[in-house]
Amino acid sequence: MERLLVTGGAGFIGSNFVHHLVDHTDLRVTVLDKLTYAASQESLAGLPEDRVQLVVGDIADADVVDPLVAAHDAVVHYAAESHNDNSLNDPSPFIRTNILGTYTILEAVRKHDKRLHHVSTDEVYGDLELDDPKRFTEDTPYNPSSPYSASKAGSDHLVRAWVRSFGVRATVSNCSNNYGPWQHIEKFIPRQITNVIDGIRPKLYGSGENVRDWIHADDHSSAVLTILEKGRIGETYLIGADGEKNNLEVVRLILTLMGQPEDAFDHVTDRAGHDLRYAIESGKLRQELGWQPQFQDFESGLANTITWYQEHEDWWRPHKDATEAKYAEKGQ
Ligand code: NAD
Ligand code: DAU
Repeated sequence: MERLLVTGGAGFIGSNFVHHLVDHTDLRVTVLDKLTYAASQESLAGLPEDRVQLVVGDIADADVVDPLVAAHDAVVHYAAESHNDNSLNDPSPFIRTNILGTYTILEAVRKHDKRLHHVSTDEVYGDLELDDPKRFTEDTPYNPSSPYSASKAGSDHLVRAWVRSFGVRATVSNCSNNYGPWQHIEKFIPRQITNVIDGIRPKLYGSGENVRDWIHADDHSSAVLTILEKGRIGETYLIGADGEKNNLEVVRLILTLMGQPEDAFDHVTDRAGHDLRYAIESGKLRQELGWQPQFQDFESGLANTITWYQEHEDWWRPHKDATEAKYAEKGQ
């Protein structure tokens, strides 16, 4: 494998993956990205031009996708509409990009017989009770709750069907909640960090008891590269780093790390259909492919992330007012 096409490579996790490839492989990378509101070209700045090229285009446009897929050895597919709250406001771009876009990628890899890795989410499994001893595994039945997670579930099913019916050489991964630099400030952790910087009290949906299983974006990248290199065709791998925390704990930790009283937050209107708990059992990936996460200490990973947002205000500042205005319309 010499040439890799990375869709959504200007987004939060996709750009992290491109940096990971430059640091850990000799691959030449083409990023295909529509540069939606969630993208950031700055996240790719400074990468060697002979290794990384950006093509601006839509994954649902077969005229763009087909020749690009033909010219590469493999595709890693990150591009998606990714935010649950946006999917509740308007599901249509989620259906178009996440389902039609994945279908377009699948038809191109089928036609040109190229290897595909499809990046997905643990949200396809729905949620768990707080006291349930079980965690999600590769055998957990699909049960998505939001338009976002349903569209990702639909994309996973398409990939599985193209593997079985057409012999497409694909793997799938379902990862838990990522944190780290370059995450859009609409998301929970960067929203609260930038709120505290601005003297705004963090906003916790509902009771704040909801649990997410946090993993650093760098660990997600190393897991995807491991699956691309060593994963068995047709298989699904769950990616997680044993990082279960409820939202209350996370907000209190952000406040404490930023020198504020730990109760200086507000409860706001809950998210419709809000999933209660996600938890990943990643034994298959660890035992079969030998992957291990490097960021085991959430508190120090969070502290580094806080420092990154403090030092990159010029990056997020232009989006802050509009992001908060959208939330304010819904009492959030
Ligand atoms: P993001 O919203 O930060 O980035 C998405 C990228 O896709 C953006 O650069 C955007 O411009 C691009 N894009 C959107 N529509 C496109 C289209 N039609 N054509 C081409 N490019 C398009 O998302 P993220 O958080 O980095 O998530 C990336 C992937 O990882 C998604 O597939 C998501 O479902 C999955 N995932 C995310 C998480 C998480 O915690 N954020 C966890 C598990 C899986
Ligand atoms: O589990 C993987 C998923 O994680 C990915 O598939 C999604 O792309 C990614 O956005 C993320 O989804 P969540 O909905 O879990 O992430 P979000 O950052 O939106 O919210 C995390 C938790 O925090 C969730 O329980 C809702 C809550 N929340 C969120 C915001 C924005 C708040 O309490 N307050 C907030 O202001």
